[in-house]
Amino acid sequence: MTELDRKDLLGLEGMSAEEIELFLDTTASFKEISERTVKKVPALRGKTIVNLFFEPSTRTRASFELAEKRLSADAVNISKSTSSVVKGESLRDTAENLQAMKIDVIVIRHAASGAPHFLASLLDASVVNAGDGAHEHPTQGLLDIFTLRENLGDLSGRKIVIVGDIAHSRVARSNIFGLVTLGADVTVCGPPTMMPVGIEKLGVTIERNLLRAVEDADAVNLMRIQLERQKVSLFPTLAEYASVYGMNRETLRHMKPECLVMHPGPMNRGVEISQEVADSDRAVILEQVTNGVAVRMATLYLICGGAQREKVLTDEEEVEAPPANREAV
Ligand code: CP
Repeated sequence: MTELDRKDLLGLEGMSAEEIELFLDTTASFKEISERTVKKVPALRGKTIVNLFFEPSTRTRASFELAEKRLSADAVNISKSTSSVVKGESLRDTAENLQAMKIDVIVIRHAASGAPHFLASLLDASVVNAGDGAHEHPTQGLLDIFTLRENLGDLSGRKIVIVGDIAHSRVARSNIFGLVTLGADVTVCGPPTMMPVGIEKLGVTIERNLLRAVEDADAVNLMRIQLERQKVSLFPTLAEYASVYGMNRETLRHMKPECLVMHPGPMNRGVEISQEVADSDRAVILEQVTNGVAVRMATLYLICGGAQREKVLTDEEEVEAPPANREAV
């Protein structure tokens, strides 16, 4: 598979292994661009991308904007607090007004699950989900899987453990969909109050005990406790959560020495991960962040037509060879 046959990236649910591998392979070819002195290629020259962030973000927002700049797209950033949403404008009107300005892609983060799907059905422009409620965060799922593949190789049969607030985690859901499709052996671990009913139907194993969950694991991905999404408290105290489900030096002792520790960020240090684990050589948390830029470059490139667009540009404008082989411009 060399081309993406979809207008939007809304989630990893239902995506085939071939499609996921197309994203991962394209990411690998884009990663090197960020190592160059001049971190820029003309792959998306002439494309206009709007980053519509209705929820706070550091990593996703910055990495999408960097990805757009490194691909020479024109990027516009809109946040809820400085948009006309505060004057009562609807999401539909906001999106239709942006489309009227002839944009090509909207990258959207929204507190409501399904908001990107609503826009995708409404607009001719492509829509990329940068996190919708507790539903999906597909580019985070892809960057986590890319980081796992870089460190472990083929993920088929590898034991990946996802720990924490599974019920509120869009990152957990996107990881589960992608990893199960690629044949990984996924275990989820967390308090019963944070475990969605029927989660095993997604093809995962449930293990309530953290130490049993992590033994034999190839990687452990720790989910953030999302206090802002909990309507009622789902555990007695943060200290109690940390003592039962937090990863610390004692947990590390029960893991294989080569087992990776991952976290999508932002981290609650001292809650789901101790200071020393976060900063240990087991942690690949900043590798995940580095890979986030390349995953978002690959996503925007593929969504905008990928190699097909390269061919059109080459025929019409004599644009240079594909990004991986191209010198900086
Ligand atoms: N992982 C992640 O989505 O982080 P941000 O909320 O900072 O974008």
